[in-house]
Amino acid sequence: MDETKYVLEVRNVRKYFPGVKALDDVSLKIRPGTVHAVMGENGAGKSTLMKCIYGIYKPDVGEIYIDGEKKEIKNPRDAMDNGISMIHQELHPIRPQTVSENVFLGQIPYKKRVGIRFVDYKELNERTKKIFDDLNIQMNPKEKLTNMSTSYCQLIEIARAISFGAKIIIMDEPTSSLTETETEILFRIVNQLKERYVSIIYISHKIDEILRISDDVSIMRDGRLVGMWPASELTTDIIVSKMVGREMTERFPKKNHTPGTETFLKVENFSSTNKYSFQDVNFEVKKGEIFGIGGLVGSQRSELIEALFGLRPVESGKVFIGEKELTIAEPRDAISNGMALLTEDRRKTGIIGSMSITDNIMAVSQNVDKKKYTDYGFISNEKRNAAAKKYVDAFNIKTPTLKTKIESLSGGNQQKVLLGRWMLTEPDILILDEPTRGIDVGAKYEIYELMEDMAKRGKCVIMISSEMPELMGMSDRIMVMCEGHVSGFLKGSEATDEKIMYLASTYKKGNEDNG
Ligand SMILES: Nc1ncnc2c1ncn2[C@@H]1O[C@H](COP(=O)(O)OP(=O)(O)OP(=O)(O)O)[C@@H](O)[C@H]1O
Ligand SMILES: [Mg+2]
Repeated sequence: MDETKYVLEVRNVRKYFPGVKALDDVSLKIRPGTVHAVMGENGAGKSTLMKCIYGIYKPDVGEIYIDGEKKEIKNPRDAMDNGISMIHQELHPIRPQTVSENVFLGQIPYKKRVGIRFVDYKELNERTKKIFDDLNIQMNPKEKLTNMSTSYCQLIEIARAISFGAKIIIMDEPTSSLTETETEILFRIVNQLKERYVSIIYISHKIDEILRISDDVSIMRDGRLVGMWPASELTTDIIVSKMVGREMTERFPKKNHTPGTETFLKVENFSSTNKYSFQDVNFEVKKGEIFGIGGLVGSQRSELIEALFGLRPVESGKVFIGEKELTIAEPRDAISNGMALLTEDRRKTGIIGSMSITDNIMAVSQNVDKKKYTDYGFISNEKRNAAAKKYVDAFNIKTPTLKTKIESLSGGNQQKVLLGRWMLTEPDILILDEPTRGIDVGAKYEIYELMEDMAKRGKCVIMISSEMPELMGMSDRIMVMCEGHVSGFLKGSEATDEKIMYLASTYKKGNEDNG
């Protein structure tokens, strides 16, 4: 076979971390001008493989070929010189700088006047504008990034990749925090890049996206390559079975719980101090109920539950558990009243990167229930480790030891550690904000089972989700929000995409009776 027919070839790469075989003899072949999806469960080795290609990690064994030529890629600079660019899941834009300065970071054009070097802003802005114009995107090159949303920062990263003349762009879970409209924009750009013969390596847990935009699909499991297929030969079921190594026929566990008739949590006239945020929200959750909250990004769902949890100030409103009115001024108050909140953005409010898994799991319980984890007044590592181990086992968290720093776990496994942290507090009200973001299919099912189990034991589960199938598949009732207001309630069994979307985009007063 003609070797040069691939723009990138990874041959027999191995990468070990202490106690982990992250990549075990993996090979990858990328054709020019194609979208190549890389799929696999959490911890399968996808991000590690990309970091090897991009020069962040050095493979222990193996070779990388660009256009049929063997290359040493020692660092991201080498990667860029070889036409490889990577859009990270966590973006690092330089906020105080302008769009064009971010796009041309590291290659700013200069001009000389009377022997002195000046930044050539005219050239800089013109070149930036051209890139965005070619992509059909409205963007002011002179605007500062200070308040730009993630999706715009992502577009800027893409423009940056183009400015470097990248012929291979790696996207690691690019859509995990994009709205549907933003995802469409990204797909349009991906197609434009393809037309220019750029190859995209695309990592995602969203199978429908993969089937839509990719040409080839490589699937990994436990650090090994299962195989590569043309996307046209694959279906959701085939992909799932190749990723998890077994058939998975059901996406949601059987409903085994019946919500009680008794109201457990009641929220009355809840309004934010920020008049653009949630206003006058009323809802009740029964014992043993899974209560979904739907809405578009920006509907203030996260703000609402963060306020409920004492993370944001409220202007007015009351919260009751049973008959008892609560005073929630800070998260500590919410926790001591049996609430737990798994936040949407694990990096911002969740993980303590440099600390161990045990420390991360214990972070809340340790402070709430000091005595439980001490022996004769001294911190008991044995008790702490036993508690942590319980959840590492229960959620199948992939880690060599309990002492491993959480930052070295794969994205999905970090999320499971945080879930363990909250489950350890034995909450009566478990609040989950986009709980399955970045989570693979198998682990999703495990999280759904956990929700089901909580409900069966008479606990309240509140879930914010932007994934329609999950919202409809899991919720007993769904509250839909629109621009900070409750726009309606739906029974889970009666909800459809259309009904939810309708409520999510229309707020009419008088719609908000309790369903
Ligand atoms: N810097 C590191 N130090 C130690 N172990 C690591 C490091 N980076 C990755 N690993 C381990 O390598 C394995 C593969 O991780 P990787 O991040 O590549 O998975 P992934 O397929 O991207 O998963 P996800 O879908 O959850 O993002 C995991 O077991 C992870 O814990
Ligand atoms: Mg990853």
